[in-house]
Amino acid sequence: MIVNKVFILAFTFLFLHITVPILYYYYLKTYWYPANWNISIKNNFYPKILIILPTFNEADYIYKKLDNIRNQDYPKTNIKIIVIDSGSTDGTSDLVKKWMRNNKDINIILIKENKRRGKLKAVLTVLSNKLVKDSDIVVLTDADAFWDSKALLNLAKYFSDPTVAVVTGSIAYINDNSENIYRNFYNIVRVSESKIHSTPIHNGPLQAFKREIIEKIGLPTFAGADDSSFASYIAFAGFRAIQVDDVFVYEVQRGNPHQRKIRRAQHVILNFLLTKKYAKKKKIYKRTNFEIIWRIEWFLTIINPWFLLISSCLMAYLAFTSNVVAIFTLILGALSLIFFNLFKMWVFQQIYLLFGFIKNFFTRSEIWEK
Ligand code: GDD
Ligand code: MN
Repeated sequence: MIVNKVFILAFTFLFLHITVPILYYYYLKTYWYPANWNISIKNNFYPKILIILPTFNEADYIYKKLDNIRNQDYPKTNIKIIVIDSGSTDGTSDLVKKWMRNNKDINIILIKENKRRGKLKAVLTVLSNKLVKDSDIVVLTDADAFWDSKALLNLAKYFSDPTVAVVTGSIAYINDNSENIYRNFYNIVRVSESKIHSTPIHNGPLQAFKREIIEKIGLPTFAGADDSSFASYIAFAGFRAIQVDDVFVYEVQRGNPHQRKIRRAQHVILNFLLTKKYAKKKKIYKRTNFEIIWRIEWFLTIINPWFLLISSCLMAYLAFTSNVVAIFTLILGALSLIFFNLFKMWVFQQIYLLFGFIKNFFTRSEIWEK
């Protein structure tokens, strides 16, 4: 009898865990991915762009990164770069100075902080500086992320619409195919959500903001706030925070990938736990269609990983009681982990979210190793 109940529970959790994201994905892919943007897009739109590049020990990439910005198909007179370096010990700031000497035709400023206080604090420091004032668009990026040469050009046009306040690029990884399969899946989801209204998960390697709007409503400053909470906060204010599919960023893989993904998961979880409250506290919250997207993504991020964990534990228990269906399901799961890459990435992501959730009780990872 007990076994029967456990059996029903195990399969209900597994069923929900799998069907909710699959139905959501196919719904988005069928109805929204091919839809129009419902945005008034003006081509040949060249707003003044300020690029903020926070760095900590980026000697390996900084030169190449600045070259990559320089090589954008965008009028150089409308680009300004601010590098904010937080006490790098590997000569990053000397390399920036060298680059400045060799590229006098581009407007670039180096700000040096003596102490490392994390990326969020560095970015907020720059944003509070009056140097930001004369720009229309503020772009955040990472030193190890490289943009497609048309990235700024393609991105700028979306800002011609008055409702668009944040635009993020789609991510591709250099030399890692499995990662790309998984990314494509997410890119479709994020772009589709953006066509409905906004997506609550954004990509720090390229995220652009309308300066006027962030000046008016501010940005989240709670510990652990990041790309996604910036976007969600602005979407809660009623503006669009979108991921577009004609702007690409290539990210290099470095450091321990598991550690990095757990930290990313921590920040995404903090977004879902804190940003809506923060928007209400700041009295900028407006109810829009974004609320529905938020709730589904909230479920997928905060709740759904636990469903997988619970059903796996129950399934293991049933397997011990020699339940044939449970044993068969576990074997099927194990085989899928080996042969079905997307499934493997999915399960790993659930594990990162679980670890991230627990790790948040101890630290919000405001400062991190590579
Ligand atoms: N100024 C400053 N101070 N910059 C920093 C600091 C700091 O304390 N810590 C990191 N950075 C810079 C890095 O030099 C890099 O340019 C950028 O912030 C992103 O850091 P990475 O070490 O490359 O982290 P990632 O690849 O995992 O970044 C992703 O996750 C982060 C959140 O966990 C990206 O999406 C980031 O945009 C995101 O903030
Ligand atoms: Mn990085």
